Amino acid sequence: MADTIATAPAQPVALAEEELALFAPVYPLPRLEIASGRGAFVRDADGREYLDFVSGIAVNALGHAPAGIARAVARQLRTLAHCSNLFANRPALELARALAQATGYERVFFCNSGTEAVEAALKFARARARARGTAAAPADASRAGSGGRDAPGVTLQSGSEARPAPGRDVLAFRGGFHGRTAFALSATWTPAYREPFEPLVPGVRFADFNRVDQLDAVLDEGVAAVIVEPVQGEGGVIPATREFLQALRARTAALGAALVFDEVQCGMGRCGRLLASEEHGVRADYVVLSKALGGGLPLGAVLMTAEAAQALQPGMHGCTFGGGPVAATAGAYVLARVRKPGFLARVRRQGRTLGAGLERLVARHASLAEARGVGLLRAVEIAAPAPWDPPALVAAARAHGLLLARGGERAVRLLPPLTVTGEEIALALERLERAIAELEAGGEQG
Ligand SMILES: Cc1ncc(COP(=O)(O)O)c(C=O)c1O
Repeated sequence: MADTIATAPAQPVALAEEELALFAPVYPLPRLEIASGRGAFVRDADGREYLDFVSGIAVNALGHAPAGIARAVARQLRTLAHCSNLFANRPALELARALAQATGYERVFFCNSGTEAVEAALKFARARARARGTAAAPADASRAGSGGRDAPGVTLQSGSEARPAPGRDVLAFRGGFHGRTAFALSATWTPAYREPFEPLVPGVRFADFNRVDQLDAVLDEGVAAVIVEPVQGEGGVIPATREFLQALRARTAALGAALVFDEVQCGMGRCGRLLASEEHGVRADYVVLSKALGGGLPLGAVLMTAEAAQALQPGMHGCTFGGGPVAATAGAYVLARVRKPGFLARVRRQGRTLGAGLERLVARHASLAEARGVGLLRAVEIAAPAPWDPPALVAAARAHGLLLARGGERAVRLLPPLTVTGEEIALALERLERAIAELEAGGEQG
């Protein structure tokens, strides 16, 4: 597609000003109003076009308005839109079968979002621990709520007991993001997300990501589950090392604790494998998927081994909309596309192209410290001395017709659709470089 975007910075953008009066202010409002999208491009409400390297935060894996998905979903809407989990539906069965075949995990639980899927996985892991007889008597109430405590490498979240109750705790990692509902939020590192809502679910410990040497200090019989992103996404695109994932697997297996991979952002092909963890050959007890799985419709899934499903009983957990026929139809469409021969090899190839282009930008611009990532989950880290921050780069890129998302403290993420072309990657790099050059020259920041 031709580079038709006017590149003058600080153009007025199509901000949805009514948001200020209408929406709960949990997002920075008002926002750019996106009116339509096709492939890797979107148009705002004024008709201006942008190259979209956010993809609805890694959701639109096949790009915007992929041919075929609307047809399949419309057909399903005309046949059966919803029936609840009091009844079975064929699209959910087919999607579960396809996911099990594709991943080797034998059982599936469907829900609507990443946080719901994390919530379910952590609940299932606790139920598993209880069923295995490792759950202890209820925590001593006199110790509850003793507040956060920092030992080297370990934080007991506010609301945790000073000593862990055996078989009940969850180990999560600094920089990790798992969602906004209570249990998932409890395991999310960013204190600003957690603290306004405390007390949260007690019994979550935090340790440093990728620090094998700290695991012995935080992993004991008190831990029912370890939850980890094989590539931290919101945390700024930090891949787990193979050694770290292998160590987590070995130690949880030895303790009888569950290993939970949160692949909400890094899974479904984004890192060039259907599951990012495949790259390291490490298998979990539960794998959490969402985002790209639904092709733009809300869909989440917990994949699990047959053993990990054993502790579950009818009525223990559920979800009215989970695995509804419409979202499941979309999910089956996305999965079939991602599994087509050559699709993931192409993601890896385009990922290398994007990664190499970002490395070149880092070499040319002192304001960038690092490029990193796997497949098409990429980020650039802004150097500490740069006099501008990630939001300034996101705004400058937007003014140059490129949509990007922040990640971590000092990084900006690039999450193109998995169908992105070499030309679109080249165009994105060109626009990103113009935005960086403008910021370096002290120009207006969009
Ligand atoms: C790794 C990870 N887990 C969980 C979530 C939560 O997903 P959702 O926003 O669909 O609840 C996210 C969202 O960004 C995520 O990146």
